[in-house]
Amino acid sequence: MEFFHLAVFLFFILAPSSTINARKCPKSCRCDDTKLPRGFPPRTQLLNLRGNHFHFIPARSFPGTGRVVSLYLDFCKIHEIEAGAFRGMRNLVYLYLSDNDLTSLEPEALAGLPKLVYLHLEGNRLAQFPGAGRIKVPKITIVSMQRAKVKLMFTFPSAALSLVPNLSVLHLERNAISRLEPAGLLCSAAPSLMKLYLRSNAISEIAKGALDSANIETLHLDSNRLTRVPSDALTDTPNLTELNLSQNPVQWLGPETFQEMSHSLQRLYMNQMGMEEVKIMMDAYILCLFFLLDY
Ligand SMILES: *[C@@H]1O[C@H](CO)[C@@H](O)[C@H](O)[C@H]1NC(C)=O
Ligand SMILES: *[C@@H]1O[C@H](CO)[C@@H](O)[C@H](O)[C@H]1NC(C)=O
Ligand SMILES: *[C@@H]1O[C@H](CO)[C@@H](O)[C@H](O)[C@H]1NC(C)=O
Repeated sequence: MEFFHLAVFLFFILAPSSTINARKCPKSCRCDDTKLPRGFPPRTQLLNLRGNHFHFIPARSFPGTGRVVSLYLDFCKIHEIEAGAFRGMRNLVYLYLSDNDLTSLEPEALAGLPKLVYLHLEGNRLAQFPGAGRIKVPKITIVSMQRAKVKLMFTFPSAALSLVPNLSVLHLERNAISRLEPAGLLCSAAPSLMKLYLRSNAISEIAKGALDSANIETLHLDSNRLTRVPSDALTDTPNLTELNLSQNPVQWLGPETFQEMSHSLQRLYMNQMGMEEVKIMMDAYILCLFFLLDY
């Protein structure tokens, strides 16, 4: 216990040397509640500006921050980010824009971020993923867009993926997606996508071809409105190893339901579905199958 308290104490003493918090600005910078501060020490690697009220991020807002790796701008009431806002942040890897008031985001807002890998956009009012533009952010691998707070359908235009050609993990939990179309999410537009999380949407239909992707390994469709296993939409997913279908109102499985997936599937979650009758013939390749009926 003593050691734990000491460790926590030391963390708070030591952390500020490499962490800048906007509420306590360095003497040389100008700061008020809505303008972004400037003049951060040149060695700063982590910049935490979370919980301020910036509203608008103009172009070139972060001069002299070429060493910053993580930028926290979550909970900042941001509703607009101008093109080139982060230009010059050539070492930025983590960008947290979660829980703001963004209703749109131009691809150009992400210009000049050659090393960005993690883009956090969850908890905004974005009804669609940043559209196609001329810029590419080649390193972006993980995009989080949960909780988009939109009543109408959230859309993910396939052209949008030209912005993020190396996207391999996409989080779209708790949005309002009701149907997956062939021209939508994956296809040839996101050739490197390996993990797709769609938990807690309103998906009741997945059209054949909508999920075709040779690289997809993990697919979470739990807590949606599927009344049957989307077998025909999963015929061209040769590397699918984990499928979560829990908490969908699927009542019945036929003997061929998993036939197409049987060579790759290793983890299948179908608990809490209210199933009553199960007719299923599984392949030996499937290692784990959890039927927790009436759980
Ligand atoms: C994907 O990332 C690799 C290395 O991280 C890079 O060389 C490649 O150009 C990127 N792909 C695209 C399509 O930009
Ligand atoms: C996906 O499967 C194909 C053939 O089934 C294989 O050639 C390819 O290497 C796999 N891709 C990955 C990322 O495992
Ligand atoms: C599968 O989905 C259920 C229901 O949403 C969730 O409780 C569970 O954690 C998920 N399993 C995995 C491995 O993600």
